[in-house]
Amino acid sequence: MALLLSACEIPNEPLVYPDADSSSAKLYQAKCARCHNAPQPHAHTAQAWPAILQRMQMRMITKGATPLNKDELGEVLGYLQRHAALADSK
Ligand code: HEC
Repeated sequence: MALLLSACEIPNEPLVYPDADSSSAKLYQAKCARCHNAPQPHAHTAQAWPAILQRMQMRMITKGATPLNKDELGEVLGYLQRHAALADSK
């Protein structure tokens, strides 16, 4: 089972994010790893991220969690888009 999963996920190793020491990367992990592992920025394209963030905002609101404010949203979106995938392959 673990072998099957290891091709696309690394559940037992800490995830390493691009620019891990930057404040944006830290904000991203603080805000987006509360319900699931924060996905890698390159898991989606720059075009796809805004809609995903909107969906997550709704999920936070539904769960009674505080959604990101405008500044945080802009910073997280900028971070994701800087490191996003170039083409939609998934
Ligand atoms: C309130 C809990 C919660 C928070 C906080 C949260 N998510 Fe999610 N997220 C979910 C749930 C629930 C799903 C759907 C079930 C799953 O895939 O685990 C999901 C799925 C996803 C998916 C994959 C499926 C899809 O809908 O595209 C992505 C990508 C994602 N989240 C990104 C993020 C990002 C980026 C943030 C930070 C802004 C974030 N999430 C914060 C609850 C949350």
